[in-house]
Amino acid sequence: MATSAPPQFKITYTTANVDLEQFHQHFDEALARVRGASGKQYPLYIDGKAVPTPWAPLTDTSPIDTSWVLGTFATARPEQVDLAVTAARRAQKDWGARPWRERVEALRRAAALIRERKFELAAIMSIEVGKSRLEAMGDAEESADLIDYYCSQMEAAEGYRRDMARLTPIERNTDILRPYGVFACIAPFNFPLALSAGMSSAALVAGNAVVYKPAEDTPWTGFKLYEIYRDAGLPNGVFNLLHGRGELIGDAIWRHPGVDGVVFTGSKEVGMRILHEFSTRYARPCLLEMGGKNAAVIMESADLEAAAEGVTRSAFGLQNQKCSATSRVYVHRAVAAPFVELVLAKTRALTIGDPSQRDVFFGPVINANAVTTFEAAVAQGAKDGKILIGGQRLSQGALGRGYFVEPTLLSLPLDSSLFLRELFVPVIAVGEVGSLDEAIAESNKTEFGLTAGIFSQRPDEVERFFDQVEAGVCYANKRSGATTGAWPGAQPFCGWKGSGSTGKGGCGPYYVSQFMREQSRTVIEG
Ligand code: UN1
Repeated sequence: MATSAPPQFKITYTTANVDLEQFHQHFDEALARVRGASGKQYPLYIDGKAVPTPWAPLTDTSPIDTSWVLGTFATARPEQVDLAVTAARRAQKDWGARPWRERVEALRRAAALIRERKFELAAIMSIEVGKSRLEAMGDAEESADLIDYYCSQMEAAEGYRRDMARLTPIERNTDILRPYGVFACIAPFNFPLALSAGMSSAALVAGNAVVYKPAEDTPWTGFKLYEIYRDAGLPNGVFNLLHGRGELIGDAIWRHPGVDGVVFTGSKEVGMRILHEFSTRYARPCLLEMGGKNAAVIMESADLEAAAEGVTRSAFGLQNQKCSATSRVYVHRAVAAPFVELVLAKTRALTIGDPSQRDVFFGPVINANAVTTFEAAVAQGAKDGKILIGGQRLSQGALGRGYFVEPTLLSLPLDSSLFLRELFVPVIAVGEVGSLDEAIAESNKTEFGLTAGIFSQRPDEVERFFDQVEAGVCYANKRSGATTGAWPGAQPFCGWKGSGSTGKGGCGPYYVSQFMREQSRTVIEG
């Protein structure tokens, strides 16, 4: 089912500098193939072997049409977790001891396979997550770039082995970073390939083995990543695939005593639980990326057209289900009315529908829980302030078959709790401020600290915002997405405060080294 894509296609979340006619033609073909392949049964994969299980599987349905079964996926129980961790421990011994260049070679093959299969992967993500075509292709492209970027980190550091100073002429000192062993890799639904490939490839290239659990809403994409690593030649047991619900199987994986580290992207609630409960006998690495409540600040001098475009794209791209999404806006009182008018016009112009179809921007939210969250947030918004646009679940015609809701903007007083809680649904809080200081103070009130954006033509304001805002990924005047669109090697994605645990982000130059621990070696030669 693999498709070969011509190499000139390269779509990121912010640029689409390609011949879109050809893009859509390839996408249509891939979508037809993927539709034909939906509805199959999938086992778990442990130690390179398919492992069916006899109990109830996960039924993967499309959020576009919940009667559409994309596949059924065998679920794990603690005994399969044990088998997977045991296999990973055994396989890691050889994998971690190999020359690092061999691991880089295998992972670069995985990146190349993603590029070859990117239309198929994007089509699957489009129907499994409800991503627009361009968002889905961005996810596939980012996955390949993440793997390559992490391989080049290994190369630049020459495998993280270096000679150190000598205190006496007869000693030889070396510093090495070595893999921890086995990493649990727990992934979210929203970037089911990029975040899974990014987290796992960094663990793998560093010499760890991985027990991977995709989100229960996106097991098909998870299986596709398994296939990619398998076809790239990863040895049996180095990457194991388990499915199941997070609170059962996700927890059982990281709680397993044979696991040496956890890499997780998901909610703050789950992440903090892992952080508190993972290190029992001694501290173990826990790399968490935990969401955001990202503010866009619009100052008096802003190019309002650019600001409205940047906010609308960042707020409503992927239906706001990005950790990086703009979910609150602080606009200077002097420009609030024209800015809001522009955002409303752009929101009205968004095409809503089946996002696997060309030119549809806004698709469904991921599941019934997300619809409930949406409805509760809208109800609170109507109480705390005013609904500027949206607010309804969409159920007319074909939309009634999926989880469609309206892109929604709320005008709120600054003390509304909707400015603080992460919702992960397309409900945006807009508040007015009187100064940059006030905007920064409001921005910093949340427990989160992931992304932030400002629109201002004054360099001094931009500098002050960067210096004072508590966020790891900051943008100024980004029309293509006020707070979104980080790319490997360009925007390190580091969560501050409740958004991350290590102070170093994916997409950044210090990522791979976090999957290793240091050993210094002194040999006396006299
Ligand atoms: C996420 O939502 O968890 O910066 C990751 C962006 C993308 C994805 C963020 N690279 O918008």
